[in-house]
Amino acid sequence: MTATSPERLRILVAGRDGQVGGELAYSLTSLGEVTATSRAELDLTSDASIRTVVRSVRPHLIVNAAAYTAVDKAESEPELARRINADAVATLAVEAKAVSAAIIHYSTDYVFDGTKAAPYVEEDATNPLSVYGQTKLAGEQALAQSGIPYLVLRTSWVYGARGKNFLRTILKLAAEKQELRIVADQIGAPTWSRDIAEATASIAKQWLPNGSNSGIYHLTASGKTSWHGFAAEAIRMRAESRVDEQVNFARLVPIPAAEYPTPAARPRNSQLDCEKLARVFDLRLPDWKLSLADVVRQLDICPPQLEAASQQPGDKMGKTIQVRN
Ligand SMILES: NC(=O)c1ccc[n+]([C@@H]2O[C@H](COP(=O)([O-])OP(=O)(O)OC[C@H]3O[C@@H](n4cnc5c(N)ncnc54)[C@H](OP(=O)(O)O)[C@@H]3O)[C@@H](O)[C@H]2O)c1
Repeated sequence: MTATSPERLRILVAGRDGQVGGELAYSLTSLGEVTATSRAELDLTSDASIRTVVRSVRPHLIVNAAAYTAVDKAESEPELARRINADAVATLAVEAKAVSAAIIHYSTDYVFDGTKAAPYVEEDATNPLSVYGQTKLAGEQALAQSGIPYLVLRTSWVYGARGKNFLRTILKLAAEKQELRIVADQIGAPTWSRDIAEATASIAKQWLPNGSNSGIYHLTASGKTSWHGFAAEAIRMRAESRVDEQVNFARLVPIPAAEYPTPAARPRNSQLDCEKLARVFDLRLPDWKLSLADVVRQLDICPPQLEAASQQPGDKMGKTIQVRN
């Protein structure tokens, strides 16, 4: 660990074009010199690419926000998902060791099966239901076995004003459709990508001087809701902020997950207990509704060109559509 040297801290970010990576490129600049890389610049499917970039940047800290995040598609591309979410993390750790760098990496609530009645703590047994969850868990394990200083920040239901996410999909569809059917029996905490990035900067600042307290931490917004609750609140905020536009937003119908089968199973309970983070780093993310209000305001000031949402069965009449993350 060289963060205590007089040298300016060098930070390598992987996944610059993602939701979290895009925010990290800004939030980490207060700590040092940030090299934020796109997939073309640092390709996690290539050990040679990882080696070349790490050895040329010689970072003190690597923050890996790149991942294979297509949860359903991973079921039919398990090898690619494993390569990016697990094997590449192991290679990153080897290269980090070679230049004495520490790693901050992100993982997911999907490492759990969701059968626990209460929020999950870091020590709870994992049991991923999906290929995505299995590969993310393998990435965690690669870091734990690496012997380098590392933090795994498990987060959930990530959204923001940019990128492909549930919030943007819902707001687009709600303005187009008469009815949206949304899963209401999966519970979790929608977490703003900017909150994750700013928390990462604060954590890194405290952690880097000695790299102690390596391990897994849960990092999600405070509070909880369902996908249906998240959508309802987002639409309510959007409607309130754009009262003059006469948009008739879709009626939301709560449905059980069983009525909306997907290739990958999701945990019923996605709640992560974030007390360890509060205890060690004195950090707690805002309630999900507070951050959502900020993001909806941003979208209102600068309405995005929303990406085409995934069209699901049920859309045949152009009136009713089922939506999920
Ligand atoms: N999204 C969620 O709801 C969620 C929930 C829990 C945990 N997480 C975790 O949080 C972290 C950040 O997620 P996010 O939502 O910011 O993801 P994201 O928006 O999907 O971004 C992932 C980034 O990884 C990049 N990437 C994919 N394959 C790559 C490769 N072979 N080499 C280099 N880069 C590659 C993508 O590049 P392109 O832009 O070129 O495609 C993309 O920019 C991930 O570790 C994810 O597993 C996410």
